[in-house]
Amino acid sequence: MKAIRVSRAGGPEVLELVDVPRPSPGPGEALVRLAAAGVNFIDVYLRSGRYPRELPYVPGQEGAGTVVELGPGVTEVAVGDVVAWANLPGSYAEYALLSADRLVPVPAGLDPETAAAVLLQGMTAHYLCHDTHPVRPGDTVVVHAAAGGVGMLLTQLVRMRGGTVIGTASTEAKAEAAREAGAAEVVDYRPGALLAAVRKHTDGLGAAAVFDGIGGPTFDESLAALRPRGVLAVYGQSGGPVPPFDLQRLNAAGSLFVTRPNLEHHITARSELLRRGTAVLRLARDGALDVRVGRRFPLAGAADAHTALEARATIAKTVLTCSPETAGSPVR
Ligand SMILES: NC(=O)c1ccc[n+]([C@@H]2O[C@H](COP(=O)([O-])OP(=O)(O)OC[C@H]3O[C@@H](n4cnc5c(N)ncnc54)[C@H](OP(=O)(O)O)[C@@H]3O)[C@@H](O)[C@H]2O)c1
Repeated sequence: MKAIRVSRAGGPEVLELVDVPRPSPGPGEALVRLAAAGVNFIDVYLRSGRYPRELPYVPGQEGAGTVVELGPGVTEVAVGDVVAWANLPGSYAEYALLSADRLVPVPAGLDPETAAAVLLQGMTAHYLCHDTHPVRPGDTVVVHAAAGGVGMLLTQLVRMRGGTVIGTASTEAKAEAAREAGAAEVVDYRPGALLAAVRKHTDGLGAAAVFDGIGGPTFDESLAALRPRGVLAVYGQSGGPVPPFDLQRLNAAGSLFVTRPNLEHHITARSELLRRGTAVLRLARDGALDVRVGRRFPLAGAADAHTALEARATIAKTVLTCSPETAGSPVR
């Protein structure tokens, strides 16, 4: 089978297309033929070495496809089921060997590519606005990189909960996409622009929550945008890590909360994975959540996909097509 392999940390060029033997499932495992794999920013951190990882490995944490073979003792899925997953390694490949208890059934009526495009970022957006800061009607919140994969889904989910979104984006095309997703206002990263927009929408009070996947470059302004007792969720660092800071700043600025949450801790139990994953997949199936595939690459184009994501040249979701039968037309 074809797979992408990373044998050393580095730039996109370390993503090599190779032929490897098709694996066989062991106890508790399912072999899945992939329709599509989701590309996520964490794939960049792992590939570049920003997050250390044992080498070599097949990248990709997200995908969807059809179960073709089961190992002993699997009860959660059957051969022929269409399933999706997040936070499991080895998805940039034609086949993936996966723990069956981490698979989420794809509801009838949802195509596997959309399932692969929405599950990881959708569950992330879901826990951020349901658990990290349960958005209430009337809340004004900030979503950074609001035209990104997580950002566009989060913007929509916040709106569904009755919140108002102030987004950030680096280009007018991205700002337009974020407005289409429901952001009330979208600003660029010029100093002061975000604070002015937040003050305007909150009568000077500040945002109830800031969802920040950029990290270091936006941290100070994110904190400054909060109302007293507001919540800053730094859930990623596409722009770089947040330097150590003085806790006393949280007191001085109004008893603020800062958290660094991770999807894994919100899907650890299978019951929670199924509840959250199924909720997201059903919203996508019903069209309540608009899942936009901004760019689609063949498996062999994984390096091009990473180059685009790192260059901030993507809007919404980027996917890899892993199987010739399910390949849609390239969106490049
Ligand atoms: N903690 C969790 O549970 C969890 C789960 C999933 C994802 N994440 C995090 O969520 C964030 C978004 O992930 P994603 O996969 O949806 O990516 P994405 O938002 O589609 O892409 C990253 C975006 O970040 C913005 N950005 C700002 N500075 C950047 C820089 N120096 N380099 C690259 N991009 C920069 C860009 O938007 P603009 O050009 O508009 O600024 C870019 O399009 C990432 O930090 C990721 O690690 C966290």
